[in-house]
Amino acid sequence: MLSSLSSTISRLNLFCPKPSIPHSLSSCLKTLKPQPIIPRWSCLHSLSTHSTSRLSTSLKPQFDALVSKDDLVVLGIETSCDDTAAAVVRGNGEILSQVVSSQADLLAKYGGVAPKMAEEAHSQVIDQVVQEALDKANLTARNLSAVAVTIGPGLSLCLRVGVRKARKLAGSFNLPIIGIHHMEAHCLVARLIERELEFPFMALLISGGHNLLILAHDLGHYIQLGTTIDDAIGEAYDKTAKWLGLDMSRSGGPALEELAQEGHAESIKFSTPMKQHRDCNFSYAGLKTQVRLAIGSHNINPEIPISSASSQDRRSRADIAASFQRVAVLHLEERCDRAIEWARKIEPSIKHLVVSGGVASNQYVRARLDHVVKKNNLQLVCPPPKLCTDNGVMVAWTGIEHFCMGRFDPPPPADEHEDYVVKYDLRPRWPLGEEYAEGRSEARSLRTARIHPSLTSIIQASLQQQ
Ligand code: KG4
Ligand code: ZN
Repeated sequence: MLSSLSSTISRLNLFCPKPSIPHSLSSCLKTLKPQPIIPRWSCLHSLSTHSTSRLSTSLKPQFDALVSKDDLVVLGIETSCDDTAAAVVRGNGEILSQVVSSQADLLAKYGGVAPKMAEEAHSQVIDQVVQEALDKANLTARNLSAVAVTIGPGLSLCLRVGVRKARKLAGSFNLPIIGIHHMEAHCLVARLIERELEFPFMALLISGGHNLLILAHDLGHYIQLGTTIDDAIGEAYDKTAKWLGLDMSRSGGPALEELAQEGHAESIKFSTPMKQHRDCNFSYAGLKTQVRLAIGSHNINPEIPISSASSQDRRSRADIAASFQRVAVLHLEERCDRAIEWARKIEPSIKHLVVSGGVASNQYVRARLDHVVKKNNLQLVCPPPKLCTDNGVMVAWTGIEHFCMGRFDPPPPADEHEDYVVKYDLRPRWPLGEEYAEGRSEARSLRTARIHPSLTSIIQASLQQQ
């Protein structure tokens, strides 16, 4: 039992420093089998050094109690992009608090996320955001069962701020720590709001940096049916909004959605991306170019904010916004239709399509995808908008899901130096699942550079070694 507590996540190297785990450590790690009772850490007095080898020999977790899932209380920390978020969630799914600090002023100033500025902004507010999450939950860190934190994919500089804070807190209060995949968190938060949602199910994850169509077989086991070969849909919304002179302070998506309601969606004939590719991948770079050309031909000056545009100018911008949105979402609809067909071949029992990620907070997107899902006799599960955009709840909840499977890391040393986290294995480019072999894209530009093995392959390899 003792060795099993070091658990899969340690074995998965989620939080190990970049140099590989010493043999002595890896050989003592065993995966904890799924169980209804959750082990709780007691004092780990011996973890008082920065040295990895010392860590390996001093891994002597003890249990002071066995707690049920309902008694778990997990803090989730998210800093992978431009939102600094924290939340406290109970094992039964009760959200005890949720705090998000967004970098609205920076977004408006730079028209996008500037990593160095974003890192600085995260650093300035992280302590306050975490404290507020604890205060709102009427708890102190002493009451927590574990800390979950996003370790990838995302901007390294930004991820580091969250990981540093999580390790400091976990070290000081002797708490286990769970490294979270940002896109898995977007997906699994659907299981918090829809308790009937069981594996296997499908998910379309649409955000600023990712477009993913996946078949979720099981916790930690995902098949990637499609991904973007260039830009994600959120990036296309943001750029279009910027070129139309919209207010970027809430990010471009919401502003564009609002303006599109004034326009005629059929007025500009943008072509739907990737019609000739009979797969489930996405591309938004070409649509962006089409939008830019339309903006030029309508003599729209992005330097003139929409609030100062003439009524004729405003109408043109609204028509472009609506036409862009129609085609951008049509692309999602077409890919989902095909993905459902593929997924049913693999898992005929599928009943749900989850749609999550920032862009899923868009009402037009939700309505169109609801139509696709109904046509295919499935049910749509779409978290409320606040849980679609980046948040700490999804991180805490995904932490709870993995913790219950015994996947977590032991508490970091209490006196770990802040700079030590620089050496940690953050995963800026980290696939969620393995690509569906029959669905490989013929598209030339598919980016295959992978810095890390996928979450699924790591977890599957570890399960096979049991
Ligand atoms: O998931 P998310 O909050 O952060 C990332 O992981 O990227 O997604 C942010 C993206 C941004 O591109 C933003 O413009 C987009 O989600 N977004 C929207 C809407 N709300 C946020 N896009 C379209 N319509 C919306 N209402
Ligand atoms: Zn996100």
